[in-house]
Amino acid sequence: MKHVAVLISGRGSNLQSLIEAQDQSYKIILVVSNVEGAGGLEKAREAGIPTTVIPHQGKTREAFDAEVDAILRAAGADLVVLAGFMRILSDGFVRGWEGKLINIHPSLLPAYKGTRVHERVLEAKEALSGASVHFVVPELDAGPVIAQTRVPVHPSDTPETLAGRVLGVEHRLYPEALRLLASGKVALKNGLAVFG
Ligand code: GRF
Repeated sequence: MKHVAVLISGRGSNLQSLIEAQDQSYKIILVVSNVEGAGGLEKAREAGIPTTVIPHQGKTREAFDAEVDAILRAAGADLVVLAGFMRILSDGFVRGWEGKLINIHPSLLPAYKGTRVHERVLEAKEALSGASVHFVVPELDAGPVIAQTRVPVHPSDTPETLAGRVLGVEHRLYPEALRLLASGKVALKNGLAVFG
């Protein structure tokens, strides 16, 4: 049973799906937010999961990350899951959690890294989009993909309708990918996601 810490900044709908999907492979032991009042904090509290708020304002990236790292280590986290955590993590933090740190991104990586994903997908008139769970590496949204799900893009879509369709598949995809990692069925080896 892996002890998981989840880092959030917002509403926490992925956090909610991870809470509901807890099984013998993982248990969420801590939720950390850099934003006071993030909706996900309430979801964690309702589930009886300890929460910590670590504001980032007025701190260097390294100082903030060191604070987060210390809290994760003190809590005994084995794995760190980013779920709508809107901060870029420093290289040092990412290296310290190599192979144990994952993120979900609302595109079919390596396509559409970064922000404004749905706007850009619609501008490019893509027929398909989706969601990806990946190991986090220092380069943004560039780590090896663990699992992906595709969704159709409709001509009538707005960024909001497309985001909603992608979010629906995220809620199934993220728990599945976390279970793979927690049960040792996927690992980061030599910069690749290795299954088996
Ligand atoms: C999701 O779309 C996720 O892919 C992206 O941020 C959003 C977080 O949503 N990284 P929520 O806070 O989990 O509802």
